[in-house]
Amino acid sequence: MSGLNLQAWMQPHLQRIEQALSAGIEAASPADLGQAMRYAVLDGGKRLRPLLVLATAEAAGDAAGGPAALNAACAIELIHAYSLVHDDMPCMDNDVLRRGKPTVHVQYGEAQALLAGDALQTLAFEFLTPQDASVPAAVQAACVALLARASGYQGMAGGQAIDLASVGRRLNEAQLRQMHRLKTGALLLCSVQLGTACVSGVPVAVQAALIRFGEALGLAFQVVDDVLDVTADSATLGKTAGKDEAADKPTYVALMGLDGAKAYADALAGQAMQALADSGLPEARLGALRGLADMVVQRNH
Ligand code: IPE
Ligand code: IPE
Ligand code: MG
Ligand code: MG
Ligand code: MG
Repeated sequence: MSGLNLQAWMQPHLQRIEQALSAGIEAASPADLGQAMRYAVLDGGKRLRPLLVLATAEAAGDAAGGPAALNAACAIELIHAYSLVHDDMPCMDNDVLRRGKPTVHVQYGEAQALLAGDALQTLAFEFLTPQDASVPAAVQAACVALLARASGYQGMAGGQAIDLASVGRRLNEAQLRQMHRLKTGALLLCSVQLGTACVSGVPVAVQAALIRFGEALGLAFQVVDDVLDVTADSATLGKTAGKDEAADKPTYVALMGLDGAKAYADALAGQAMQALADSGLPEARLGALRGLADMVVQRNH
């Protein structure tokens, strides 16, 4: 456990993230597409990925969370929100509830949901490339490269493809790990990498330790998501519980049982904490990352 009060740390960051996201998605838009985008992004979500960006930037030396880190925080949340909009569509998981509200396709129709997801994805890259001088060009380019790779066919989208191709199949642990690493782990790892990329001069060894932190935490996150699908109720989750078994998806609970999956998530969180210790960064700067890692395994939604 860290000595930091995570709620107190999060509160101002969450405010800045909400404000920047809201300011960056205009409701006025062709055929109300912006409204569907705002519906998908605002008023909900734990904002774990943007918080990880800001906490990593802080750990790496940018305590103020300057414009590069805030833009990157918003960008990764936009990619995440787009992935959820598409994940919920009838051609994928066919879910009607997300963040305690009807899913975007239920509210606005499938075509508008598809387009909202598309437009959220490209808006993420607009956030990373502000048209003023606030973020150095090299930082912009580094962030674009990281986010594009994490989102695409060798990252989140690839993982989603494996997920859909695996319905009704029994995956072994290595296959399941690969699926989870891509579909969920890639964006969590990317959050950490974006936070590092926004700070200049982070030593390679520190970057490597933070990457190990992001990898372990990313996998832990999806293992916990699999657990919560079984143990939590829909009202708490804000999304329909029990979907994985009903849809015959391979999960860590199916592979290891409930207790096995929980123990594995704890072990992964332990690895993440160890990677932070190995980074050699001063403990005083690691409190938020440790707090967020605790949150990933202790959350109830
Ligand atoms: C849910 O992610 C989708 C997965 C990748 C498992 P989160 O649990 O972070 O969802 P929000 O953003 O808080 O709604
Ligand atoms: C979704 O995984 C991962 C992405 C959206 C990339 P899940 O399908 O398990 O997420 P939930 O449970 O619907 O949030
Ligand atoms: Mg899915
Ligand atoms: Mg789903
Ligand atoms: Mg799930």
